[in-house]
Amino acid sequence: MARHCRQRAAPPLKLALPLLLLLLAAAAAQEVKLVSGPGCADLPPSPPTELKATPGDGSVTLTFGRPSNGACVSEYQARAAVTVLPVDAAATRSAPPRQSTQQFSLTIANLTNGQQYKFFVKAYAARYRGGGEAQVVAAPAAACDPAALPLAPTALRATPGVANVTLCWAPAASGGCVDEWRVAIQAVQQSGQRSSPAEYRRYNKGGCVTIASLAPGQLYTFSVQAYSAALKGGAYASVQATPLAPPKQWRCVPVPGLYPLCEAAAAGRCAPLTCQQQFAKGQCGAPFMRIVDPATLTIVQYCSDLCGCSADPAATATRAMPDAAATATAAGSATPVARRALCAASAGASSQASAAAVWASPSGCCAAPPRSFADDDTTEGDDADPGL
Ligand SMILES: *[C@@H]1O[C@H](CO)[C@@H](O)[C@H](O)[C@H]1NC(C)=O
Ligand SMILES: *[C@@H]1O[C@H](CO)[C@@H](O)[C@H](O)[C@H]1NC(C)=O
Repeated sequence: MARHCRQRAAPPLKLALPLLLLLLAAAAAQEVKLVSGPGCADLPPSPPTELKATPGDGSVTLTFGRPSNGACVSEYQARAAVTVLPVDAAATRSAPPRQSTQQFSLTIANLTNGQQYKFFVKAYAARYRGGGEAQVVAAPAAACDPAALPLAPTALRATPGVANVTLCWAPAASGGCVDEWRVAIQAVQQSGQRSSPAEYRRYNKGGCVTIASLAPGQLYTFSVQAYSAALKGGAYASVQATPLAPPKQWRCVPVPGLYPLCEAAAAGRCAPLTCQQQFAKGQCGAPFMRIVDPATLTIVQYCSDLCGCSADPAATATRAMPDAAATATAAGSATPVARRALCAASAGASSQASAAAVWASPSGCCAAPPRSFADDDTTEGDDADPGL
């Protein structure tokens, strides 16, 4: 056994020659001369590893490592984008152009202190005209004075949401050192009412925060303080906002005369059940006929001319016709209206219902088995009856 192993590992010359050729070939490629040593792989680079951002005064220094897949890299390209709130118009205008390097660090200057930037670093291979990109968020900051109280935050903005308010701000461009941001939340009382105590929240990072669990319709004052732990204080800015109330009522959006067709019908391979037939089968409340969206309190009812449009989410009642009419499922011709497929609209339908799964089969809405293009399609017509 041991002898066998030795034999396998034996001929160093035979192995060395192809390896040498490989190295020579790799060295000839432009990539290798620039950043990577011999032995880098001829692959599209994955993103640079260990991307870190170190903020400076008006600048951010990015450091990073080679792509983890060992690909050859021509150069590393870095760009900054002001996509992180709060977006300062001046910062957007002066966003520096893309820079590139063959080293493993790059300093991007001419940035606005306090503005958060997203930095993208791409491991670029000329051979593949591209490569993977890593990203990191950082905000340049002026050196602060630990002996001075922090100045008030700037550009404080409040955006009301449903029962919440999002606050965004930027640190002052100079002044004392900020250790944390303290937000005081105070309900504004109408005259004569006793004021309730303010509530405080603390944040390590500025930018934007969302204050949730607020009373809809109540006016609040939000004060954001730049807080120095050493000096136990700092200046603040205030803003007022009223959280929105959730929409109160469910509403039903009627869509008369059509429903989202299944694939076979949309492709013209079968005649779809008409609204009349869906109605006759008692399927008005099926998940594909009645899309219930709790997020917007909206119900979309297809074939509403027959099914009606109930704004009650619990109502899946199907106003089925008497049995006699249910025989109308013969392969009748579809109305032109029903043919106007709305297949895409069914994509967001509630997933809970297995009826939807049955119906969602490519021929689930066919009145008769579809004309088949392949043998394995021939039995699918049976799917047409989900039997709700
Ligand atoms: C910074 O911007 C100024 C003008 O806005 C320009 O003159 C200077 O060259 C820029 N510096 C860098 C490093 O881009
Ligand atoms: C705030 O309200 C909006 C709706 O206006 C909602 O989309 C968002 O998820 C809420 N955010 C939080 C953190 O509650």
